[in-house]
Amino acid sequence: MTPTLRSAFSYSFVSQINTHILRPLKRHVGRLLDIILTEYCFRLERQPIRQALESTRKLPQNLHLEGTNICNAKCVFCAYPQMERAKDTMPVEQFRRIMDEYVAMGGQYVSLTPIVGDPFVDRHLFERLDDLNQRPQIQGFDFYTNGILMKPHVSERLLEYSKKLHVQVSWGGFDRETYHSIMGVDHFELVRRNVEAFIAAKRNSGSSMRFSLAMRCPSSNWTGDFWEQCQQYVQEGLLELQGVVTFDSWAGKVKSDALRNVGLEPVLPPYKRGACELLYRKPVILANGKVNACACRDVEAELIIGDLNESSLTDIWHGSAIDDLIDRHERGDFPDVCKRCTWYTSIYNPRKCNARINKTALALNRD
Ligand SMILES: C[S@@+](CC[C@H](N)C(=O)[O-])C[C@H]1O[C@@H](n2cnc3c(N)ncnc32)[C@H](O)[C@@H]1O
Ligand code: SF4
Ligand code: SF4
Repeated sequence: MTPTLRSAFSYSFVSQINTHILRPLKRHVGRLLDIILTEYCFRLERQPIRQALESTRKLPQNLHLEGTNICNAKCVFCAYPQMERAKDTMPVEQFRRIMDEYVAMGGQYVSLTPIVGDPFVDRHLFERLDDLNQRPQIQGFDFYTNGILMKPHVSERLLEYSKKLHVQVSWGGFDRETYHSIMGVDHFELVRRNVEAFIAAKRNSGSSMRFSLAMRCPSSNWTGDFWEQCQQYVQEGLLELQGVVTFDSWAGKVKSDALRNVGLEPVLPPYKRGACELLYRKPVILANGKVNACACRDVEAELIIGDLNESSLTDIWHGSAIDDLIDRHERGDFPDVCKRCTWYTSIYNPRKCNARINKTALALNRD
């Protein structure tokens, strides 16, 4: 065997051991720890944990609002292509009324990331951003986007919000084929140009606006000239990179085989004991004005707790519908979508605590 062949062989051997033995072992040990620690906290620390969460629940620390639930991509790991919920966009007047109420409650942080949908498809996005930006009470706002419509000409406009806005672009791969197979649309070059144009504008303006690439592709794909370029951007402080290791099932809508076919790893089913943390920290206002208890994985909105066309935000937030859901989770009587959900995070699991929660918004509320 030549030295080159030998080294290629040993690299592939190590990577096979890593993929097929070490990583699965780590995940199974992690799950065992989840079970032990969750049971411990559920049995012995239940009261203080619930009390601490109750005290933060009276005010949404990060108000999630779905400007629109319409999207222009078909990601293989997302339930959007299968969504049956009616497509909608929230009128600006209603948005303003909700924000008036939120700041009157003491709210400081807003996320425009929808359950599904893309913020740039929302025809009122910039009116919403203008509104948030001019409110002194609002300290920060953010959204995830696929970046398809984040055209170069909007870069300057986004930078006007740079003191408060954080934009996160979901990124399906560092080459055209991988991107296409994961995002379901052939827009690798287009989104790359959008990202490059934004970063060029950010560099020219000297802005410190937070801008991230949220990688949604296998780590084996973190290669190539755009990946190298991103490393450079990171070193210059122009870009942050975030990754997720495993992908959840959207309560059974996204099948493990579909994920594995594009090299993505499905999550192991979580250990379910007690209330899901999202019920305490992450309800969402839908584009139709209804409020759903979960901002993350309830694509058909089965966990409705109120309607802002009929009640106030405070009434809904302090109302009994969310308490009832929390109690059901605590009794192990999970609603169907939560039964199927693999994104569930127990409030009693110290290893996962705050894993799905925006740390900037959390820090604001601790000050
Ligand atoms: C549902 S999207 C909505 C915003 C926007 N359309 C986007 O994709 O960025 C919010 C975030 O959830 C991520 N996401 C969607 N499905 C996921 C899954 N099964 N596992 C992990 N993250 C997922 C997306 O990549 C995105 O970063
Ligand atoms: S992850 Fe985002 S971009 Fe992809 S289909 Fe879902 S909502 Fe659309
Ligand atoms: S279990 Fe899943 S669907 Fe239910 S609240 Fe938690 S994340 Fe949302």
